Parts: sequence; C-alpha cells; structure tokens
Amino acid sequence: MKKVLLVLTLACFSLVALDSFEPSKTCKTCHPIIYKEHFSSAHKNATIFKDPIHKAIWEKHPAKKKEKYKCAKCHTPTDTKLLNALANNETALPQKSSKAQQEAISCVYCHSIKDVEYHAKANTNILTDANKTMFSARKGEINTHDKEYTIESSLFGLLTKKTGSPFHKIDFSNENFYNGKICTGCHSHKQNSHNFDICNMDLKENTNTEDENCITCHMPMVQGSFTTAKDSKTHRYHGFTGAMHKPQMLAKYVKIYLNKSDDGFVVRIKNTANHQLLLHPLRIGELRVRIQRDGKTIKLPSVKFMRIIGKDSKPAMPWVADSVLKNTHIQANENRLINFNEHLQDNDRVTVELGHYVVNPKIAKKLGLEDYKEYTKFTLLKKSNFLIR
Ligand code: HEC
Ligand code: HEC
Ligand code: HEC
Ligand code: HEC
Ligand code: HEC
Repeated sequence: MKKVLLVLTLACFSLVALDSFEPSKTCKTCHPIIYKEHFSSAHKNATIFKDPIHKAIWEKHPAKKKEKYKCAKCHTPTDTKLLNALANNETALPQKSSKAQQEAISCVYCHSIKDVEYHAKANTNILTDANKTMFSARKGEINTHDKEYTIESSLFGLLTKKTGSPFHKIDFSNENFYNGKICTGCHSHKQNSHNFDICNMDLKENTNTEDENCITCHMPMVQGSFTTAKDSKTHRYHGFTGAMHKPQMLAKYVKIYLNKSDDGFVVRIKNTANHQLLLHPLRIGELRVRIQRDGKTIKLPSVKFMRIIGKDSKPAMPWVADSVLKNTHIQANENRLINFNEHLQDNDRVTVELGHYVVNPKIAKKLGLEDYKEYTKFTLLKKSNFLIR
C-alpha cells in the first residue's frame, strides 16, 4: 500500500496582524458549537455596548471624563486602535461602530496568549507573534509545537485521513493552557490609583493544578464535537460557567452539610474552589434556610456574604476606595460554619439554598440597574435538602 503524504501550505496572512484580529465569525464554519456558546458568553459581551453593568460603572468612572477607556485592556483587548490611542495618551473612547470593540474578548485573542506577566497594578497578557497559530491543550500532545494540516491517502486515494486544521496551525506545547494560567492575565487582581486591590483572586501557589484549575471548573467538558471535521463527542464549554451564566454547573464544587448542635443546628459550607466564592465587588452572596414542619414552613433569617470596600470607614466606589471595610465571603477551601438557634425535630425537612445577587440590590438603584431583574434577583448556586431523623 502506497502512502502519499501531502502537506498543505497555509495561506500566509496573519491571524494576529499588528492592528487587527481575525474576527470570531471566521471560526464559525468549522467550530459552530463553540462559536454559539462563545456568542452568548460574558467574554463576547464584555463591551459597554452589550453589558449594561459594565456600562453603568464606566458611566460613573472618572476615566470617562478624561476620555480614557482603560478598561479595554481586559474588556475589549481586540480593539487595538483604541489601545494604541491610550498608549499615545490620546482620546480613547469606545466607538459603537468599531467592529473590534464588538469582538470584545475574541477566539483568536485567547488562543494567542503565550504567557502572563505579573504586575502589581494588573497582569499583562503576552501574545504570540507566530503566524496563524492557535494554542490549545490535548492530553499526550504537549510536545507538538506547530501541527500543520496533512492529508494522508492510502489505497490509491480511496481512503484519506486528515489531521490538523486547513485554516491554522495548532501549538499544543503551551503549559499555560493546561494549568489555567492563561486566565490570570485578566482575572488575577486589579488595583486602583490608590494602589488598593479592588479585586484579588488571591491565588496560592500550586493551587491551579493540571487536574483542577480555572479551565476544568469553568470550561467543563460538554456534549458536541469541537469541530465539524471530527466527531469528538465532547468539547470544552465556551459559555463559561460563572455567577451570571449557568452557576448550577458549578454547584458540585461547593458542599453543604447539616449537623445538630446543642442549641440548634450548624450548616457547614465547604468551598472547594481555589478562590473566594464570589469575586466581583458588586456581587453579594446569600444563604437561605427554611424548615418544613407539620405542613408549615418556617423561614429563618438569611445570611449574607459580601466584601465592602471604602474610604474613611464609609463604603465607596472602586476608584475611591482605599481599604476593605468588611469581607464575609467564603474563602478558597474554607469550611464555613453557620449556627442556627432553632431546635430541629424528627421529620423536619430542612432546605438550604446558597446563591447570590449579581448586583447588590442596594447598589443597583444608584447605578440605574434596578430594572434589570436578572441581575437583582436571587440566583441559585446550590440547593440541599435534609430530612431530620
Ligand atoms: C485587569 C483587567 C481588567 C480591567 C483593566 C478592567 N476589568 Fe472589569 N472585569 C475584569 C474581569 C476579569 C471581570 C470578571 C470578574 C468577575 O466576574 O468576577 C470584570 C468584570 C467587571 C464588571 C462586572 C461585569 C458584570 O457583568 O457583572 C464591571 C462592572 C467591570 N468589570 C467594570 C470595569 C470598568 C468600568 C473598567 C475600566 C475603568 C474595568 N472593569 C477594567 C477585568 C478587568
Ligand atoms: C476550515 C476549517 C477551520 C476554521 C475556519 C478554523 N478551524 Fe480551528 N480547527 C479545525 C480543525 C479541523 C481542527 C482539528 C484539528 C485536529 O484535531 O487535528 C481545529 C482545531 C482547533 C483548535 C485546537 C483544538 C484542540 O484539539 O485542542 C483550536 C484552538 C482552534 N481550532 C481554534 C480556531 C479558531 C480560534 C478559529 C477562528 C479564528 C478556527 N479554529 C478556525 C478547523 C478550522
Ligand atoms: C474547583 C473549581 C474551581 C476552580 C479551580 C476555579 N473556580 Fe472560579 N468559581 C468556582 C465556583 C464554585 C464559583 C462560584 C459561582 C457562584 O457563586 O455562583 C466560581 C466563580 C468564579 C467567577 C465569578 C465570580 C463573580 O464574582 O462573578 C469567576 C470570574 C471565576 N470563578 C474565575 C476563575 C478563574 C480565573 C479561575 C482560575 C484562576 C477559577 N475561577 C478557578 C469554581 C472554581
Ligand atoms: C476566554 C478565552 C477563550 C476564548 C474567548 C475562546 N477560547 Fe477556545 N479554548 C480556551 C481554552 C483555555 C481552551 C482549553 C484548552 C484545553 O484544556 O483543552 C480552549 C479550547 C478550544 C478548542 C479545543 C478543545 C475543545 O474540546 O473544545 C477549540 C476548538 C477552541 N477552543 C476554539 C475556540 C473558538 C472557535 C472560539 C471563539 C468562538 C474560542 N475558542 C474562544 C480559551 C478560549
Ligand atoms: C482578556 C481578558 C480575559 C481573559 C484572558 C479571560 N477572561 Fe474571563 N472575563 C473577562 C472579563 C472582562 C469578564 C467580565 C465581562 C463582563 O461581564 O463584562 C470575564 C468573565 C468571566 C467569567 C464570569 C462569567 C459569569 O457568569 O459570571 C468567568 C467564569 C470567566 N471569565 C472565566 C475565565 C476563564 C476560566 C478564563 C481562562 C480560560 C478567562 N476567563 C480568561 C476577561 C478575561
């Protein structure tokens, strides 16, 4: 049997040109399922033109008066024109007509992140300058650098086997795609002009392992092939599970236990994530407990989890704040015990719900977001039922 090996040369235009990125729509033909998920994700909608919460904060931000949309670094990193204007200290405001602004965090942007550089203010993503090459991860392939498109044909061309992509090369050798480090360029921490951390994931070393990290938890394997060219059965979910999008898919990383105590009972919440359960300062967590007894429902006072930032002991906007006034969020790997003074009886049914508000309802009004019910309603992360015996 004669084997003919054909290596197709890739068209020689760059995906990461100096001033523009290949639009995500280009990937749609061959990666339709991933494209659809990404389309409704927080990443695709991170611009002020799609995310009303981001817009509301931007409208109040002092950088707006100065006409410097500094948020672009993480929210619309594909808008290179705006980023260049910022670097040259020119007026840099997001333009609705800009295609790059609408692309926000695009497919090619993420798949081009070579490394993440640490800075106290906020980290920086280092992009590859390799031509049309996508970083990705695949078990057993870490030594494959530039996988090219090849067609192997056998039996005088009756059988063909294609590997690689006809559109781009694939680089499987970037370990940051295996351990989740590629997410930490934007997500790790952010300081304001008072050198105060508005948010900080406070990641401890070695807590992002190859077996469990940002990618395995937030991009779980779901049904459907990753490309039309193959029947891979599953792919990594590109809708990104989080506080806004499908939080229930993260429920398994939080455990809820209930034990009787001398003066009532204790609810124990174990956070198995390597970061504080909620990260953005606008979020507020809530634990709701109710008891069903003799056909009646007893609702116990709910418990809130929040991080309040401020100045001079008063809550303040992120750009004013210089200290943490209070932080009751459940920390990485913490076991939080919450005591209730209600004595339980046999056959009581106790329902424990852990959830959150995307925008703290008290702040929503100040931001003009009170009509966005999906942000100000209680969103469930996990619910557990206990029958008392
Ligand atoms: C260093 C990167 C970075 C910069 C710079 C940045 N952000 Fe963000 N922002 C993020 C990340 C990451 C998230 C998602 C955090 C989360 O959900 O916990 C986020 C989320 C948000 C949210 C919540 C969005 C939602 O839908 O709930 C708001 C509001 C926001 N950012 C406003 C801004 C504004 C305004 C600026 C510019 C003045 C800015 N950010 C600059 C990284 C950044
Ligand atoms: C003409 C079809 C085609 C287009 C267009 C295309 N791809 Fe691909 N891509 C493929 C094929 C086929 C594979 C699988 C190659 C293999 O497994 O040997 C692939 C694989 C990948 C992988 C690696 C998958 C893995 O196994 O980990 C990434 C990442 C990727 N593509 C991203 C993109 C992005 C981003 C775009 C848009 C800029 C894009 N692709 C456009 C056909 C395409
Ligand atoms: C063990 C699983 C696990 C790992 C590892 C993990 N997370 Fe999470 N993450 C969660 C859970 C659980 C939540 C809580 C969602 C909720 O409360 O609705 C969450 C929430 C989030 C949120 C939303 C927070 C908010 O306030 O909006 C972001 C953003 C996030 N994680 C990013 C990351 C990044 C980046 C990494 C890697 C550095 C990471 N996560 C690692 C499980 C994980
Ligand atoms: C926020 C960053 C980010 C964005 C945006 C993003 N990806 Fe990915 N993508 C990743 C990471 C991380 C992986 C996981 C690598 C691994 O562990 O398999 C991945 C995996 C993939 C894979 C192969 C693995 C699989 O089974 O799914 C393909 C194909 C892919 N992405 C294509 C795309 C396309 C097409 C888009 C846009 C529609 C896109 N990606 C947008 C980060 C991103
Ligand atoms: C270029 C910067 C950037 C990179 C890289 C990035 N993110 Fe994000 N991410 C953001 C921003 C900005 C938001 C908030 C967008 C908004 O809501 O306006 C966000 C939102 C999220 C959310 C919140 C979704 C929700 O429903 O609450 C999760 C989870 C998340 N990212 C996880 C990841 C993971 C995991 C990776 C790595 C594979 C990653 N991100 C890479 C900037 C980034």
